[in-house]
Amino acid sequence: MDEPKITERAAKMTIILGANGTGKSTLLHDIITHGNEKSLVITPDDSEWRKYAEVELLEKDDFVFSGVRRHIFDPQKKCGTLDKIHMFKKGKLIFDDCRAYLLSATDLRIRQLLIRRRQRMVDVFAVGHGFTEVPPVFFTFATDIILFRTTDNIFKRKDCLKDFEKMLEAQKRVNAMAAKNPHYYEVIKIS
Ligand SMILES: Nc1ncnc2c1ncn2[C@@H]1O[C@H](COP(=O)(O)OP(=O)(O)OP(=O)(O)O)[C@@H](O)[C@H]1O
Ligand SMILES: [Mg+2]
Repeated sequence: MDEPKITERAAKMTIILGANGTGKSTLLHDIITHGNEKSLVITPDDSEWRKYAEVELLEKDDFVFSGVRRHIFDPQKKCGTLDKIHMFKKGKLIFDDCRAYLLSATDLRIRQLLIRRRQRMVDVFAVGHGFTEVPPVFFTFATDIILFRTTDNIFKRKDCLKDFEKMLEAQKRVNAMAAKNPHYYEVIKIS
């Protein structure tokens, strides 16, 4: 019998959480430089990811590239700079420092992106210093959480975290391990 044809990729939605300096960006550099797919890093911080060429994301051609590109997200422009984000296909899309998207104006656009990520063959990564810095909508669609040491109150995301008890235990465990190794992390699958 023929193997079933794989028409859809896993299209993971991974949230990476960790306090300052735990190793989130270092891990992401590893993730995006492995494999043949293109990666687009969206960052509100002009000083990060400088080694990758910048794109404006204004027209279709801006989404046609190989390797890694970075886009500086300006929260002052509301959702302006992410207006065309639905044109990104077949690759890894990284939202570094999710505090910027706590603004409700971007919520709908990001929600649509997360819902359609399978058809568009996009793996999404969302990065924050802790649970409260990531908008609830990302947790709703999360398939994996990569957890470094976090210091904020996980209870504030109780309503949108599936497997809340499991996450609470994981936070305690990871924080205890981080006393010995500040770069310790665990990958938690969301059921
Ligand atoms: N596994 C590791 N082993 C040793 N050093 C590491 C490891 N991961 C990261 N580092 C070092 O720790 C420092 C902070 O790493 P990184 O910038 O990746 O943290 P971050 O979580 O992205 O921090 P921030 O929240 O400030 O963006 C860097 O100097 C990096 O080289
Ligand atoms: Mg970082």
